Amino acid sequence: MDPRSNPFAPGAGSRPPELAGRDEVMELIAIQLDRLRRGRAARHHLLVGLRGVGKTVLLDEMARRAEANQFVTVRLETPENRSLPSMLVPTLRSALLRLDRGQAALTKAKRALSALRNFASAFRLEMGEASFGVVPAEPGVADSGDLDLDLSDLLCLVGEAAQERGAGLALMIDELQYVPENDLGALIAALHRAGQLQLPVALVGAGLPQLYGLFGRAKSYSERLFIFNEIGPLDKASARQALIKPVQQEGVEFRENAVERVIDLTQGYPYFLQQWGAQVWNVAQKSPITRKDVSEADPLARAELDASFFRVRFDRLTPRERQYLRAMADLGDGPQRSGDVAERIERTTSQCGPVRDSLIRKGMIYSSEHGLMDFTVPLFADFMRRAMPDLEID
Ligand SMILES: Nc1ncnc2c1ncn2[C@@H]1O[C@H](COP(=O)(O)OP(=O)(O)O)[C@@H](O)[C@H]1O
Ligand SMILES: [Mg+2]
Repeated sequence: MDPRSNPFAPGAGSRPPELAGRDEVMELIAIQLDRLRRGRAARHHLLVGLRGVGKTVLLDEMARRAEANQFVTVRLETPENRSLPSMLVPTLRSALLRLDRGQAALTKAKRALSALRNFASAFRLEMGEASFGVVPAEPGVADSGDLDLDLSDLLCLVGEAAQERGAGLALMIDELQYVPENDLGALIAALHRAGQLQLPVALVGAGLPQLYGLFGRAKSYSERLFIFNEIGPLDKASARQALIKPVQQEGVEFRENAVERVIDLTQGYPYFLQQWGAQVWNVAQKSPITRKDVSEADPLARAELDASFFRVRFDRLTPRERQYLRAMADLGDGPQRSGDVAERIERTTSQCGPVRDSLIRKGMIYSSEHGLMDFTVPLFADFMRRAMPDLEID
């Protein structure tokens, strides 16, 4: 059918035509955000799951709703190797300017801007005096150079500024596993402090399963502060909605056995549903979409995934890292013991330590339970076996 009207949206962070199966978690988070804004006790939320399950689009949708609900949102995506302060300074600055818009008087937002200037200079971040406009100096605030203290000062002042306007501040941070551990600790401490002062500052974070370990290590009390929401594949009913609704809106029918087949092939993973949906649409000549169309589209969808979703990750790996992942895949799908992986390439576990650590840092794998390693990308084991037919041992 006409690719111009293809409703599906495969791609990292691409808004799906139908955001299926996530109403419950969105409502849960919306309730916590509202409670926080009203100065009531609430916990912060984390969205945790593998790549391609829809964390980013969920975060975007939450940000959109929060904005419509008297929140000023700060939307960040953490790249690898970037400090949290360097990301927060420009984004908090624009949040504060928004809070201060149209206000001639000396608002709390202006005071917070001045604290932000101190903070930026304490952490040697280029901000440029001019970009702050005329704000009074506020010596001794957020300028000690100790990130735990300064970030707490700063976030509390921003919280007060929001509170003064009857608003809330929502930090929406994606790829949270890339925030350096020290910085993460400081962020948790700051949120803890803001909570004690009943300030309307909320975090909604998203990231890979390494977040469980990272949060536990960063601050012992983080368990009480955060709710971990596991974001996974869609259940059958939601996966059906994700496929059927978008085509219905284009006046096209999807045969029941064709829908079933796509759900089987994709295991309900949102990224894969979009990818298969898109190919099936292009292959089908007319409504209804049949099981035969799905069979024809299947290899094309796989090839597309290989060339994009999987390949971009593979290309960032060193030969040693590839070998390690190939050894994991050699042992089968699902979690593997690191001892078994090392043995498969005739090395000791400690010899493999550095390569395993760098794969965890790059967000390729995570350790689920004691010593059990798994891929952060669904169906990646299968891809590794396709991309490297043989495991070479040197
Ligand atoms: N609830 C959903 N229903 C249908 N498709 C979805 C859903 N969530 C995400 N998608 C699709 O899945 C793909 C991956 O989403 P993304 O948010 O980038 O995942 P993640 O951030 O977890 O890697 C996108 O193509 C998006 O359109
Ligand atoms: Mg994402």
